[in-house]
Amino acid sequence: MAVFHFKGKSLKGELRTPSDKSISHRAVMLGSINRGEVVVREFLRSEDCLNTLKAFLELGAEIDDRGSEIVIKGKGKRSLKEPFNVIDLGNSGTSIRLISGILSGQPFYSVLTGDRYLRRRPMDRIAIPLREMGALILGRENGKYPPLTVVGKEKLKGIDYKSPKASAQVKSAILLAGLFTDEPVSVTEPAKSRDHTERMLKAFGVDVEVEDLTVRLGRNRELSRDLDITVPADISSAAFFMVGAAITPGSDVVLKEVILNPTRTGILKVFDRMGVRYEIFNIRETSGEEVGDVAVSYSPDLKATEIKGDEIPTLIDELPVIALLATQAEGETVIRDAAELRVKESDRIKSTVENLKSIGADAEELPDGMVIRGKVKLKGGKVNSYGDHRIAMTFTVASLITKNPVEVDDTECVSTSYPGFFKDLERLLT
Ligand code: S3P
Repeated sequence: MAVFHFKGKSLKGELRTPSDKSISHRAVMLGSINRGEVVVREFLRSEDCLNTLKAFLELGAEIDDRGSEIVIKGKGKRSLKEPFNVIDLGNSGTSIRLISGILSGQPFYSVLTGDRYLRRRPMDRIAIPLREMGALILGRENGKYPPLTVVGKEKLKGIDYKSPKASAQVKSAILLAGLFTDEPVSVTEPAKSRDHTERMLKAFGVDVEVEDLTVRLGRNRELSRDLDITVPADISSAAFFMVGAAITPGSDVVLKEVILNPTRTGILKVFDRMGVRYEIFNIRETSGEEVGDVAVSYSPDLKATEIKGDEIPTLIDELPVIALLATQAEGETVIRDAAELRVKESDRIKSTVENLKSIGADAEELPDGMVIRGKVKLKGGKVNSYGDHRIAMTFTVASLITKNPVEVDDTECVSTSYPGFFKDLERLLT
């Protein structure tokens, strides 16, 4: 348990938050099935991404972990070997789902597991299409939950998948399995989810066509490039300091090199509607992704907003901290169409609303979202992170404006995505 109380302090200064989690995972995965040498700079050394790295070492990939950079000598998509042991992916949903896609094309037996939170997360969303493509996937409760057993096939079948969810993990698992067939492969989503897999596959030389909400693999499905990938800063990690600065009097922060991929920047559109004072400058490109420096300052005139529909996938991981922002806005903020939050690292509708109420906010659960009535003076109190990194960070940030301390029970979970979070926070506190 940790106790936080930063009332009276503000956030000031510059920070390069850690690198993007989604891109770090994909760089190791694609680098390991590539034929050629890949250097990954600014790899995110968080537990989730290190679990992906460990998994590919167990699958026989040649990865030289030099700390600040990782060098992968890929020998092609057929070079992976049957793992000698169960692969433990810790807390990482992205790892287990995307790796299942790759393993679907490997003619050997693998078992994938994770921590007690991951073992409760639904896997049928990927198991159903991957079975349709020809892989054998077994799991607890009729194949729904990890541990998963994957027995792949050298040649899978094609698929034209109409995904019921706007999920990058589902889309990516299918595209990665699709590398192991010559038949047509396409995925159509109900709304656009993050597109890092498509972008990176293209960078590795794979033919990928994108047409509205459909992604299709073309003829060439071999990854065969020498690449130098620099991973930009994760907007999902920067979000904690952006919101912290917006709600805390006297604050002024600059978050450097933040990824500005349009499938990830929903939070900035919400900032526009809510009246958050921010500016983006120094826009440039890093390894095929737009990045920029984002300056955010205290924003005293926040207004409530509605967040729903196609916008949800573009800010899905930021919703807990956006809910905190909403407690300081005039009016009622309504979040809908976000039932996916219930199956993240925790049930984030429950964990966000319950904890907001514990610190004195006026919030209510909806089946697919939440309502937050703002301009409330937060008192502070005890919160439960439910082992969820983003919940622990959200409520640590809340303690910048609570009258009394905030006690957060499990804070170690921040290492899932942001091991240096408390140090960075301390550095910006003045
Ligand atoms: C991710 C996709 C999203 C997101 C997760 C990372 C990815 O999940 O919430 O943190 O890297 O593909 P879903 O695809 O389940 O929406």
